Parts: sequence; structure tokens; C-alpha cells
Amino acid sequence: MYKYVINGGRKLEGEVSISGAKNAAVAIVAATILCDEACVLENVPDISDTAICAKILREMGATINYTNKNTMLVDTRNIKSPKVPPELARTMRASSYFLGTLLGRFREAFVPMPGGCDLGDRPIDQHIKAFNCLGAHHEIINGIVHVKADDLIGNQIFFDINTVGGTINAIFAAVKAKGLTIIENAAKEPHIVDLANFLNTMGADIRGAGTDVIKVRGVNFLKGVTYGIIPDQIEAGTYMVAAAATKGNVLIKNVIPKHLESITVNLRKMGVKVQEFDDSVRVSVDGPLMRTNIKTLPHPGFPTDMQPQFSALLTIADGTSIVTDNIFDNRFRYAGELRKMGADITVKDKVAIIQGVEGLKGAPVRATDLRAGAALVIAGLCAEGRTEIDDIYHIERGYECIDEKLAALGADIKRVYFQPKNAMAASS
Ligand code: EPU
Repeated sequence: MYKYVINGGRKLEGEVSISGAKNAAVAIVAATILCDEACVLENVPDISDTAICAKILREMGATINYTNKNTMLVDTRNIKSPKVPPELARTMRASSYFLGTLLGRFREAFVPMPGGCDLGDRPIDQHIKAFNCLGAHHEIINGIVHVKADDLIGNQIFFDINTVGGTINAIFAAVKAKGLTIIENAAKEPHIVDLANFLNTMGADIRGAGTDVIKVRGVNFLKGVTYGIIPDQIEAGTYMVAAAATKGNVLIKNVIPKHLESITVNLRKMGVKVQEFDDSVRVSVDGPLMRTNIKTLPHPGFPTDMQPQFSALLTIADGTSIVTDNIFDNRFRYAGELRKMGADITVKDKVAIIQGVEGLKGAPVRATDLRAGAALVIAGLCAEGRTEIDDIYHIERGYECIDEKLAALGADIKRVYFQPKNAMAASS
């Protein structure tokens, strides 16, 4: 197994290039099931979540070739069964997208209840509601979700809550349904717009993505295309926060600054300088970091996926900050790990109260989920001394070569192999 070993206290300086967006890529790779020809996907991030998506498709019969580590040729025409291999699918949240894509193509899907980061209860009732609205029935047997429709007929879908995954699955089921589907209270995240652009390039008829009403008129055929995935807003935000936490000066390239607005605004409130260019942002700090309050909200509000990283930054800001996560029930599991590094954080339900401290101290810690892990990396970079981060497979689900990118910015970070304690016990 691997861990990151960080000797903190170095300013990050230089340039870093942002990879393709994880949450767009996992939806777009799954969407190729709806395509009637082969597709070339560019700017696919080289992370374990996209690798698992590709593996699932391969096990189902698709042909996948990489022309380089970020470009995939995907041909799903040989997939003959609507059943997803359960072991692989259970490891990630995005496996729920196979419900919508297989239902769209075969009018039937068998997919295990999705896994992914443990952020509290993550039901799929709204996904099922969308499928039911289009005429599908469902049952859940031994943890496998089975959806089936004699035919899919366009209809109105009103989401009771704002759901990214539910909106994406509704689009998938509607793309090849008969007639018009109107999705109301739809999520507006940039990766929903990217997915709609991908499907429209293939010949789908989707309007309104990026607003809260999305209209999908079903089509019979989707042609093969070459498509480049948008840059990862959360990866970019993570490097912005890392630059601020180390009081560095970093040019973050290959970004869409508009997607970073809520992050930029909050960094500026803390006294961080953020300069925006056409497709890059420069983050630098030349004074003290000031407290601020953060409340996560659906896009265009402050993203829950940046909450842990920002909280890590707030642990070293002057004063008391209040961080509220309105999206997930359990997204503060990193707080105990940051406390091991000297942070002063108290969590009650969906609220964390962070009293800024003079500085953090390196310690052995454990990534409890993807963004929690990113928060610990940031804490390790600005802490005095050595931080060892365990369970980094969480981090590698969503960040391409984070150790190499940070090392290129001057961080002292190494990915180190170690023998897990229970493996040593077993062999002794
Ligand atoms: N929810 C329901 N019922 C549903 C669906 C969602 O109650 O049927 C609830 C969830 O429990 C949660 C809220 O609605 O409280 C929002 O969930 P949403 O469906 O929007 O999230 P998701 O689709 O499961 C995606 C991202 C997450 C990101 C959230 C919110 C992917 C693969 N995952 O999850 O990304 O946090 O949207 O923006 O796109 C990450 O990248 O670290 C990550 C966790």
C-alpha cells in the first residue's frame, strides 16, 4: 500500500495544469453506452474512478483503447447485457449512471446500489422517481437495483431536492425515450452542461442544461464523436487553496475561471489575491489569512466538494470561522484528523466551528474520503514537520498525479510504499 509523506512548510510556486473533470468524465464515459458508434474522449483524467468506469465497460463487452493516458477510444456496441459487474460497481457512486444509460439503451438495467465516498446517507430515490416518471418499474433485490420499462415515454420530472446524479440519470433515460421530457428543479453543475454538450454533439436534443429546467426530446440514434472533457473545477480549487495555505504564488492553468467564482470570492474574502485570465488563475498571498464563513450550496453556490479543503485553510486563518455543509450529513470526518495536526475544530451536525491557530504540526493521519484526503494534503503542505497520510486510494480516485504536480510546485511530498500492519501480522 502507499501513503503520502509530506515535509511541510514550503511555499508552492510555479505553474500547474488542471486535468479533466472527474465528475464530468465518469458521466461521459458511462454515456457512451447510449452511443450507436465509437467515440473518442479527450482530456479524461487519469484517476482510479475513470479507470474503474472503463473496466466496468470492458467487462460488459466494450472495446476501450487508450491512445495516451488521457485519450480513450470507446466502442460499446458489443455490450449485449444490461447487467453491470457488481464488485466493481459497488466501489463508486458514479456506477449509478449505468442505471440510466442501460435503461436508455436496453430498457432494462441491473446495477448494485452505488458506493463512493461515505458522506452519510446517499439514497437514489430521486433517480428512481425519474425512471418511474418515464414509465420504468423498479425493484431492489439483494442490493441490486433492477429497473425495467416496456418503453420509455417522455414526461415531466420534478425533483424534490437538487440532485446532480438524479439529474444526470434523468437525462440518460430521456435521451432515447419517445417524446419530450421536462426535468424541473434540475441541478446546474458545470459537468451537467458538459454532459449535455457531449450528448448533443452526438445528436441528442437537450436544451436548458445549466438552468433548473432541462428539456430533452428523445432521438433514435447517437453518432460517434470526438469530445474533450472540461477542466476539473474542484482540482483547480484544491490547488488554489494549497497555494494560499502555503502563502505561495501559483499560476493554475487550463481552467474555466467562471466555474471557480464561488471559490475565488471566498479566497478574496480571506485576503488571498486571485487574478483571473482567459483560461488560468494566479493565486498569491502577501498578508495574513483572515477568517470567513462558508455555506455549501448547489452550483453556483459554494461547492461541498471544496468544503474540506477550505476548512483546512481556515484552521490557520486569523479568528473564528463557521463552516456549514448543507449538502451531505457527514462531510466533516476529516476534523478529527486535522485536530491531530493541532487544528481547533468543533463539529456539531452540519456545522464546524474553526478557531484559527498559529500553525499546524505534521502528524500521521488518514484520508477518510476523497476531499477529506485533499484537505489533509493541504494541511500537510503548510504544517511544520512531517505528515504521513494513509488510505490515499481515496485521494487517487479523483486527483491525477497529485504528488507529482505538487512536487513540481516545490512541495516535499513523496508517495511511499509500506507494508500494511495486518499484512505483516498475517505473514508472521
Ligand atoms: N439525494 C437524495 N436522493 C437522491 C439523490 C441525492 O436524497 O436520489 C441527496 C444526497 O443524499 C445529498 C444531496 O441529495 O444529500 C445531493 O446529492 P447529489 O445527488 O447531488 O450528489 P451525487 O450525485 O451523489 C455528485 C458528485 C459528488 C458531489 C455531489 C454534490 C459525482 C460522481 N459525485 O454526487 O462528488 O459532492 O454531486 O455536488 O458526480 C466528489 O467529487 O468528491 C463528490 C463526492
